[in-house]
Amino acid sequence: MAIFTIILAVLTTAANALPGNSSYKDYVNLFLGTENGGNMFPGVSQPFSMVKLGPDVENGKTDAYSGYLPSGQVWGFSMMHESGTGGAPKYGVVSQMPVVGNLSNPLVDLGQNRSVNDTAAVGYYKSSLVSGVDVELAATDHAGFYQYSFPGNDSSSIVVDVSHVLPSFRGLGWGQGYAGGSLSISDNGSSYQGHGIYNNGWNYSPNWTIYFCGHFDQAPISTKTFTGNGSTLYRYDNSRSTNGTYRQGGVFHFEQERVTSRVGISSISAAQACSSLHDEMPVGTTVDHLVSQTQSRWDEQVFGRVTTTETNTTVLTQLYSYMYGMMLIPSNRTNENALWKSSEPHYDDIFTNWDLSRCSTALMQVLQPTAYEEQIRSLIDIWRHEGWLPDARSSDYTGRTQGGSNADNVLADAYVKGVRGGVDWTDGFAAMQTDAEVVPPNNFDPVANDSSTKEGRGALPDWKQYGYITPRFSRAVSRGVEYAVNDFSLYQVASGLDLASDASRYLNRSRNWRNHWNPAQKSFNSSGFLVPRYANSSFEYPYDPTQCDGCYWSDPYYEDTPWSYSFNAQHDIYRLISLSGGREAFIERLETFFTPGLYPGNAAYGSTLFNPGNEPAFNTPYLFNFVGRQDLSVKYSRHAALAFYNAGRGGIPGNSDAGAMQTWILWNMIGLYPMTGQTTFLIGSPWFKHLCISLGEGKSLTITSTGGNKDDAYFVQSLKVNGQSWGKAWVTWNDVFANGGTLDFVLGAEPVFWANGTLPPSPASGDTLTGYT
Ligand SMILES: *[C@@H]1O[C@H](CO)[C@@H](O)[C@H](O)[C@H]1NC(C)=O
Ligand SMILES: *[C@@H]1O[C@H](CO)[C@@H](O)[C@H](O)[C@H]1NC(C)=O
Ligand SMILES: *[C@@H]1O[C@H](CO)[C@@H](O)[C@H](O)[C@H]1NC(C)=O
Ligand SMILES: *[C@@H]1O[C@H](CO)[C@@H](O)[C@H](O)[C@H]1NC(C)=O
Ligand SMILES: *[C@@H]1O[C@H](CO)[C@@H](O)[C@H](O)[C@H]1NC(C)=O
Ligand SMILES: *[C@@H]1O[C@H](CO)[C@@H](O)[C@H](O)[C@H]1NC(C)=O
Ligand SMILES: *[C@@H]1O[C@H](CO)[C@@H](O)[C@H](O)[C@H]1NC(C)=O
Ligand SMILES: *[C@@H]1O[C@H](CO)[C@@H](O)[C@H](O)[C@H]1NC(C)=O
Ligand SMILES: *[C@@H]1O[C@H](CO)[C@@H](O)[C@H](O)[C@H]1NC(C)=O
Ligand SMILES: *[C@@H]1O[C@H](CO)[C@@H](O)[C@H](O)[C@H]1NC(C)=O
Ligand SMILES: *[C@@H]1O[C@H](CO)[C@@H](O)[C@H](O)[C@H]1NC(C)=O
Ligand SMILES: *[C@@H]1O[C@H](CO)[C@@H](O)[C@H](O)[C@H]1NC(C)=O
Repeated sequence: MAIFTIILAVLTTAANALPGNSSYKDYVNLFLGTENGGNMFPGVSQPFSMVKLGPDVENGKTDAYSGYLPSGQVWGFSMMHESGTGGAPKYGVVSQMPVVGNLSNPLVDLGQNRSVNDTAAVGYYKSSLVSGVDVELAATDHAGFYQYSFPGNDSSSIVVDVSHVLPSFRGLGWGQGYAGGSLSISDNGSSYQGHGIYNNGWNYSPNWTIYFCGHFDQAPISTKTFTGNGSTLYRYDNSRSTNGTYRQGGVFHFEQERVTSRVGISSISAAQACSSLHDEMPVGTTVDHLVSQTQSRWDEQVFGRVTTTETNTTVLTQLYSYMYGMMLIPSNRTNENALWKSSEPHYDDIFTNWDLSRCSTALMQVLQPTAYEEQIRSLIDIWRHEGWLPDARSSDYTGRTQGGSNADNVLADAYVKGVRGGVDWTDGFAAMQTDAEVVPPNNFDPVANDSSTKEGRGALPDWKQYGYITPRFSRAVSRGVEYAVNDFSLYQVASGLDLASDASRYLNRSRNWRNHWNPAQKSFNSSGFLVPRYANSSFEYPYDPTQCDGCYWSDPYYEDTPWSYSFNAQHDIYRLISLSGGREAFIERLETFFTPGLYPGNAAYGSTLFNPGNEPAFNTPYLFNFVGRQDLSVKYSRHAALAFYNAGRGGIPGNSDAGAMQTWILWNMIGLYPMTGQTTFLIGSPWFKHLCISLGEGKSLTITSTGGNKDDAYFVQSLKVNGQSWGKAWVTWNDVFANGGTLDFVLGAEPVFWANGTLPPSPASGDTLTGYT
């Protein structure tokens, strides 16, 4: 035993090449991406945990998607949050709020400014309120710990507000409501149990229930419960709920300077909340213990998988903070599924596969293969019991499909990269076929009532009848190109399962994005764009490719322009190149996309047509690899990486979207980019002299570079893959991931033509595959 411990210690020291005596936690900025629209959650979380304990702040005008805002009043500290989402806030439930004095009317506004900025570290959060109360937070998977330091011991109160939820100011009908609940307090007041029922939010969820079990470290002097109508302040107004501004909770009155509370939660029952609390956070637990336990957990499960010889603390902070930011959701709800009994893993808070299917789930596979396989199994199990794969899901309710049925892409990516384990691929393919063949019932969404926004492919009738989507459906063009990618995903899995006729049908369907291409449509110096098309087969012409009519739910394109969506047929790039007029024209088209000053709509990003702050253009900077200009992929992707990402509070350029933004920049740092749904990884340029990614089972991918640096000498001069000279601007899963591998780059300040080998595959292009070697 002793010998074993010593060996482990030596191994840990050897692997950890961090500067000085530092540890990973020293390089996690919990506030990275909390401003500038990133909407990151800075509170306390384990990797993928159900509990995310943090402050709920409100400034009277801004939606607090993760609860946190830099300024505004704290009006509670609650146990459940999302991280990095847009749309409208979800959760902010199971809260406590400390108040100085004996609170006579808990229905008044309890909001408090903070006296200094909040502080946070992995596993720890602290707010200091102007009332003089300090609140320190720590947590486990299903329980939270509150430590209050009041300014004196004469009188203090802790309010448990069962009706507390995060409000939304957007006026889109996506605000959450409180529908009722219960709170019972033990005889001596030192513990309480109950449940709250909430509804709505971005996913229009019906009532859902969370149970809680709270304990204080001492019996209060007095307690009381309350019900009634709250303050007229917006944050207390659940007017979109089923029950007006009704509020409900309890007040616990103490005469102590120091009070701690432990609270467990469960979707199943108060008894399960109590038993999780008992198991994870027994009586006597301290903040310090929980913080070091959480840090060890992140070190072992997440950070320790990636090691580097880098010593620049800013770069290390980017690396480990981005890794942290991609592992907060989805939430592992295994054993917490209130909907059905299943031996499968269960995950919630998918926000969303539309975002994550581009490059995030591919990185999840590399960095967290165990969690990733569980997530894949959970997706299929949701289909098994509800009939549909989710694109987005929270409070265990599927809601909001923005484009295609992009869980198909997530499954195909797993399938082609050999994920088998506990995944039932017969069911997996059946789930994908539901998306491809069955029209989902219309949920008559007020923001787009033509077809389902809940699940599946609402515009499937046109896709099947015409091979394109007419304007009778909202988001017709962006859905069209995404449905094509989805069909390609079915082709991939059908091929692997030897379902030849399905494979050939879906491959053909995957080419139907071409039906939206109007070769006559011009913009700047480029010809041919994906545009709206009518049932009589005519295109809307002219249609300005920089125009998307607001780019939202009821428009022809969702959240990006025709220019951007016209690059999105990622399975059929050679056809896209030939439709664009060939290699030179395609290079010019791509360079136009990245030229500053052409599109005022993206003023925040130098007015390029390229919007680095949203997912539809994630792949685009790397497409130069398909035309033998890997240097330009490096040039434009590195420009975006350096210009729009940093280690600070505004360190990501748009909504994190459950970590999607973090994964884009992490791939840039690694020097690869995945073509999701295929085994191809495009070669970029690494930021590091030495980076090692542990792949589990003793395998690893080691990436080295010499001769350059990330800022101004990042062009690839030459590459060796597994020790062999490499002339292709791509590798496959099998080359470097399946059994591990090495990528050794020589970098320099000037581009050279090194990638003279076979161009990356374009699997749907068939006989149009031209190649430019
Ligand atoms: C590491 O910590 C030890 C003991 O605290 C100290 O003596 C040593 O100087 C530290 N090393 C560095 C590089 O900071
Ligand atoms: C406090 O927070 C503000 C707003 O986020 C930020 O600009 C400022 O730098 C912070 N101050 C310190 C000392 O961290
Ligand atoms: C707190 O105030 C309430 C009513 O205002 C009173 O009944 C109660 O005794 C007070 N408790 C303490 C401990 O002062
Ligand atoms: C809270 O802070 C804001 C901004 O500094 C200030 O305008 C407001 O008056 C403060 N509110 C209270 C109740 O102190
Ligand atoms: C309250 O604080 C005062 C002053 O620090 C101290 O004398 C007293 O013992 C404290 N009372 C309790 C119950 O802790
Ligand atoms: C939601 O829950 C409340 C409280 O239990 C109940 O009164 C209401 O009928 C529920 N609404 C629906 C649609 O089930
Ligand atoms: C709705 O509010 C009323 C008071 O306005 C209250 O009596 C009733 O219990 C509430 N219903 C639920 C389900 O919370
Ligand atoms: C409160 O009562 C429970 C039994 O109902 C007991 O286990 C607990 O120790 C008591 N707490 C305090 C602080 O007296
Ligand atoms: C509480 O608010 C509801 C809805 O706004 C209203 O109908 C009701 O009369 C209010 N009740 C009281 C006691 O003010
Ligand atoms: C560390 O990296 C940052 C961010 O790229 C850069 O601004 C800084 O100059 C680097 N510091 C050193 C000492 O190289
Ligand atoms: C998910 O939760 C279950 C139940 O707590 C646990 O067994 C499993 O290891 C968790 N998965 C991950 C990736 O942590
Ligand atoms: C690619 O370049 C290498 C190194 O310059 C050269 O040896 C090789 O023959 C070239 N391959 C092709 C296909 O041109």
